[in-house]
Amino acid sequence: MAEKSISGRGTWGSKIAFILAAAGSAIGLGSLWRFPLMVGRMGGAVYVFAYILAVFFIGFTEMLAELAIGRYSQKNPVGAFEAIRPGSGWKYLGYTGVITTIAILSYYAVVAGWAFGYLYKTIFGLFRNVTWESSAAIFDRFVSNSWESLFCFLIVMGITTYIISRGIQAGIERFAKVLMPLLFILMIFLAIRALTLPGAGKGIAFYLKPDLAKIDVKVLFFAIGQAFYSLSLGMGIMITYGSYISKRENLVSSAGWVCFSTTLVAFLAGIIIYPTLFATPGLTPEKFAPSLGLMFQTIPLVIAKLPGGFLFGFLFFILLQVAALTSTISLLEVPVAFLIDEHNWRRSKAALFLGGISFFLGIPSALSVGASTALTRFGFFNKMDLLFGNVLLAIGGLGVLIFLVYFWGIKPALEEIRTGCPRFRLQPLWIFNVRFLAPLAILILLIFIKTVTK
Ligand code: TRP
Repeated sequence: MAEKSISGRGTWGSKIAFILAAAGSAIGLGSLWRFPLMVGRMGGAVYVFAYILAVFFIGFTEMLAELAIGRYSQKNPVGAFEAIRPGSGWKYLGYTGVITTIAILSYYAVVAGWAFGYLYKTIFGLFRNVTWESSAAIFDRFVSNSWESLFCFLIVMGITTYIISRGIQAGIERFAKVLMPLLFILMIFLAIRALTLPGAGKGIAFYLKPDLAKIDVKVLFFAIGQAFYSLSLGMGIMITYGSYISKRENLVSSAGWVCFSTTLVAFLAGIIIYPTLFATPGLTPEKFAPSLGLMFQTIPLVIAKLPGGFLFGFLFFILLQVAALTSTISLLEVPVAFLIDEHNWRRSKAALFLGGISFFLGIPSALSVGASTALTRFGFFNKMDLLFGNVLLAIGGLGVLIFLVYFWGIKPALEEIRTGCPRFRLQPLWIFNVRFLAPLAILILLIFIKTVTK
């Protein structure tokens, strides 16, 4: 990841190295799997636009705040709050991040396991002559087979733990540097194919023609939640990454690039999935909206429409796996770095311990998508995602903003941002957002969301 500098703390070799690593953490299942799913649940285009606005006004603001705190303090999240405000209790916000990343990793790796399962299913030709019914059935059968899904989950957790325990993220990121642009190109191909399917128009309308009557608290709340989730915000990941950025680099444009590329990937994922769905006879949004399998069930349909579909399918699921792994790595690195820095644990011990906890915590999630009737009815997976993937991210993000404004100060924060970016053109907008818009929006939505999620 980072090369050691004279001060003993690593710095990114270059600006592009940082952007790629941060984008590696950000771009993953959040954009490819969760975003299209949320679009379906929230009723289409309104949510797409709400998400884009949330990224611009809140995600970007938050990312810049986290990067500035990290680069200024040169510390992990727990250490960073403590360094800027010693003895203030703000370090507990860092602890929330440690716990939440473990919780998110626990179910995130379950989905990454599905991606792994699809890799070998593609090899065995399961997507030949695929129809919507067969594709849906393949997914349902897979996730309700507890042994198979647990096995795939274990593999992904094992790989993640191994990479973190050996501290070889740098090697993986070097891979990802080449593979992520490839994923992007492949997605453009798939998007073109999807958009040219007969009947794709209705899907495009669903995805891009907003029905303003559908805006409500829920749509806005989950748009912000998704912005945080897909950009890896609210948990101190960007504080950690910021601590490795050199003072010469421009934080504003780096943050801008990460936000832009992540949003683009998410947007493309929807452009592939919705036209494909609407071009499939007999399918309506109501039929697929609740299913966590949306992406897994739809991608085979468009891949089947390409000449040499098997090859494309295989490539897609390999790249999906890499995208997911660069995110699981960043999720596990937060609590591991905490145990190493603050409690002097050995890296391998910390990785094994926390990887193990995540695995056991993830078992009920893995079983709650059909394998166990009781857990499925309880909706364990969705409850984890709601609590940790939305509410706690929002609380964590709100905490960071309050800390920045009232306990560190806009002035020193701006000084940090302007180091390496003397002409910060969005400065007035950023100040307004960090002071008022972002914290108030999060706060109000957090208060009201209780009434709609009951
Ligand atoms: N952003 C990643 C994705 O979209 C997931 C992720 C990685 C994450 N690190 C995070 C989400 C930290 C929240 C907080 O796939």
